[in-house]
Amino acid sequence: MPSFAKIASFAALAFGALVSAAPLSAVHGAVGKVASAVPAVPAFPRHVAPICIEGIFNDLTDKLTPITGELNFIVTGNATQEVLGPIVDDIKSIIQDAVSTLNTLVGKPVDEILVSVDGTVKLTLGDVAELVAGVLTIVFTAIGKVLRLASIDVSVVVSILAPIAELVAALLSVVLKLVGGVLGDVVGAVLPLIGGLIPVILQLNVAGVISILHI
Ligand SMILES: *[C@@H]1O[C@H](CO)[C@@H](O)[C@H](O)[C@H]1NC(C)=O
Repeated sequence: MPSFAKIASFAALAFGALVSAAPLSAVHGAVGKVASAVPAVPAFPRHVAPICIEGIFNDLTDKLTPITGELNFIVTGNATQEVLGPIVDDIKSIIQDAVSTLNTLVGKPVDEILVSVDGTVKLTLGDVAELVAGVLTIVFTAIGKVLRLASIDVSVVVSILAPIAELVAALLSVVLKLVGGVLGDVVGAVLPLIGGLIPVILQLNVAGVISILHI
């Protein structure tokens, strides 16, 4: 393996070539040598993870975290359609993407659907319940904060935020369709993990999610 000094000298060569405005091909050649001297990074970064429930939920969680975080900075003065509307749209489209990806798993072998992201184990009922509860917690905790703001018109804010719960219902229903038959009572396993959120879900009053969760 080439020494660090050798790699560094290639880098210096590339830099020197840039500085002296040598022909582009010379720069490319030097950069190529540096690149090939760098050891290969192990594969499997998250974004090329196989399509499986765990991968999809990890991705969903990563994407929902910053956007739901914005709801934490909502104050009474900006709990309005104008400010909340775009955030709600973003959250909906992120969940919709996950629903669409999950739908591509319909009909796939259950071992493929339930394989862990690292390919080593098969998710259990408890694992899936945790993934689902994690997403519900991120979404409904943030919504609950907004609904508890002082002096807001609750019915207006509920009507702005409720469409998120409709997408959550779609998410739950595809998960049940994919693994409900194999794993058993997914909802029964999720409910104890989201107890504190049930008042928020009831307040949003979206029939779809209330009936799926049997609350
Ligand atoms: C709402 O207003 C607060 C206080 O002015 C501000 O910190 C926050 O960033 C605003 N949120 C949005 C999404 O505009």
